[in-house]
Amino acid sequence: MKIIHLTDTHFGYTGQKIYQRSPQHALTKAVESINREHSDAEMVVITGDLAHAGHPEAYTNLQSTLSKLDIPYHLVIGNHDHRPTLAETFGNFEFDENGFAQKVIQTERGVFILLDTVKEGTHAGTYCEQRFQWLKQQIDSANGQPVYLFMHHAPFDTGIPAMDAISLDKAHGEQLGNLLDQYSNIKHLFFGHYHRPIAGQWRGIAFSTLRSMNHQVRLDLNDEKMIQGNFEEPQYCVVLLENDRTLIHYHDYMHESEEFEIGSPFVAHI
Ligand SMILES: [Fe+2]
Repeated sequence: MKIIHLTDTHFGYTGQKIYQRSPQHALTKAVESINREHSDAEMVVITGDLAHAGHPEAYTNLQSTLSKLDIPYHLVIGNHDHRPTLAETFGNFEFDENGFAQKVIQTERGVFILLDTVKEGTHAGTYCEQRFQWLKQQIDSANGQPVYLFMHHAPFDTGIPAMDAISLDKAHGEQLGNLLDQYSNIKHLFFGHYHRPIAGQWRGIAFSTLRSMNHQVRLDLNDEKMIQGNFEEPQYCVVLLENDRTLIHYHDYMHESEEFEIGSPFVAHI
């Protein structure tokens, strides 16, 4: 099964540039690329920071842009989002019974669980007892099927200290790890927030994240006081979920470098 993971669209009001860039332009190009190259994907999942400042028009602009997709899409909320404005302006947005932007998607490959890690008034993330109870219920209800988690904040340090200062609350990250340790069917953790391609494993669970649709976080493993940025190209991930493996292809879909034929794999070389 193929899905598309993209993140941090950071939409603004109509015509608004974010750090002198247009996230709407980048997402429009991503939608065109996905429709052209990956219309066989089951869905797109966007892991948060849908809007840059939670502006109502940002959500209507995002909905309008995503309506051009030929395949379904699902949204996770991030620290730049505003839950009430999202609820008011983004038609059909789903919330759990406690009002958090969480939901479960049953797929042919297993269960996707989309988490809400937003803590109002801060860029850092949280996961309260109500949300933990909901998550445990959903994993139990999966009944051993493969589970894929999607969230905005990572529940662990990534080694970029200025970003780790605004990751999921450390105690809640530990609590999440302790919960997931009780299950053997958690296959992968997809997240956003870091505006960089990062992959690895945490407590035995594979994870990945990627660049945003607009501005990126520079690879700086030392600066604790300032989040350093740059304008590396936006990307999206083409994710292939198989019985025995998960494959993630990072696609810098806006690159303008020359394309050429390297050579046939069927021609022997001396
Ligand atoms: Fe972001």
